[in-house]
Amino acid sequence: VFRCITKRARQAQQRRIEGKTAMAHLGLVGVGVMGSALAQNLAEKGHKVSLYDRDLERAAKAAEAAEALLAPGDVKAFVASLPRPRAILVLVPSGKPLDAVIDTLSLLLEPGDLIADLGNSFYQETEARVTACEARGLVYLGMGISGGAEGARHGPAIMAGGSQTAWARVRQPLQDAAASYQGDPCCDWYGPGGAGHFIKMMHNGIEYADMQMIAEAYGILRDGAGLKAAAIGDVFAGWMDGPLNSYLVEIAAEVCRTKDPATGSAMLDIILDTAGQKGTGRWSVIEALHLGAPVSTMAAAVEARNVSAQKPARQAMEQTWGPPKITPLAVDAAALGQALLAAKIIAYDQGFGVLRRASETFDWALDLGAIARGWRAGCIIRSVLLDEISEAFDKGSPDLMSAPAMRPHLNGHVALRRTVGDALGHGLQAPALFAALAAFDGARTGLGTANMIQGLRDRFGAHGFERTDAPGKKVNGPWHS
Ligand code: 6PG
Repeated sequence: VFRCITKRARQAQQRRIEGKTAMAHLGLVGVGVMGSALAQNLAEKGHKVSLYDRDLERAAKAAEAAEALLAPGDVKAFVASLPRPRAILVLVPSGKPLDAVIDTLSLLLEPGDLIADLGNSFYQETEARVTACEARGLVYLGMGISGGAEGARHGPAIMAGGSQTAWARVRQPLQDAAASYQGDPCCDWYGPGGAGHFIKMMHNGIEYADMQMIAEAYGILRDGAGLKAAAIGDVFAGWMDGPLNSYLVEIAAEVCRTKDPATGSAMLDIILDTAGQKGTGRWSVIEALHLGAPVSTMAAAVEARNVSAQKPARQAMEQTWGPPKITPLAVDAAALGQALLAAKIIAYDQGFGVLRRASETFDWALDLGAIARGWRAGCIIRSVLLDEISEAFDKGSPDLMSAPAMRPHLNGHVALRRTVGDALGHGLQAPALFAALAAFDGARTGLGTANMIQGLRDRFGAHGFERTDAPGKKVNGPWHS
């Protein structure tokens, strides 16, 4: 599959170079920040885009950005402006606003017309929309898009799911607009139904874990080592020279080094320590629990945001109990980087583990190597590590923790243990780093303690267990004989 995609990407690039790519004429509904950025990006790549928005003036204004952008007017004029079979990209908030757009469009569209949702929709809702649209003779694609407004404007990562034949109709313009990594577009179709949105959801779950671990490293440097924000920025910037090189570490350095124009203080020292969340991280954890796949690093990240939001309660508790014992800590920045890297591998192992489990459960035949390749550029979690991760999957590794290529990075588990131990001992917050270490220890413990769970279950509920000397058969213990 890797070779196929690479070949396809090269062919597409070649066609573009030769100027033979057919320019598309797409529709785009919703010209908010993301919609108008993507429209401009498509126009820049030579594609024509008819724009529609409930706010007709906003659509007309957005169309002024490029000659290839049109604002035909009301929804009827918009639909009529598109060549048949039509292809319409929708960038409106997921849920009710999206359903309202689909309902309006489906009254005007004809069999074979295509609707593609590029919002952060919940994958089960996408599955339902695929079915409902197909019943109306329409084709539907659910696509995750990552990279924020900047990405949409200059090259996002796009994860498509739904009808594969429908995908072929919008693939070229979207791959033209998407980010690319060494010529490979970070935009592809990965599976049927809600697969695209599921993959985007897990991207965000991983994004949560990644960000939380960066925040914990920041906390260890700020409260343990007593470094100022700018100095912490230097540590992060230093990590950009190694395997931690990633968009999130890069912008973490920038966030640390930036000064507040109003006060001249470090911007970070002015930002309130309560994190927002729109819900995709929480969805990842809930879905992973449904699938029985471990996601302790992401769960720790979601919980840390939940705790962060309870600022007044935390302040009141601090009044009662005092702050945790925070004493100075000698922090070796290189060792902290090794710890962060090992923890990151473990978080990614969990994220891809959920994707693998979803693929088996929903029969999606997901190609984990291809998904990792699609995340190498354009998206929020883009990093040099994803290139290595995709190679590990391409070489047949079922997961990351057991992949030989990840072993040098996972050797950082020694530094991770020291970091977590120091953090706990000094009263510093490190729940995601700790979750990663616990996951690693759990994964490499040949003899665990679930025999006790099984014994208890059998003792109180006769649930049965397997004997070590006769596996494969459920038996009961002698408790009630
Ligand atoms: C992306 C981001 C994007 C958005 C998150 C933020 O890939 O471009 O993930 O989708 O920034 O949804 O999520 P929270 O508000 O939950 O942090």
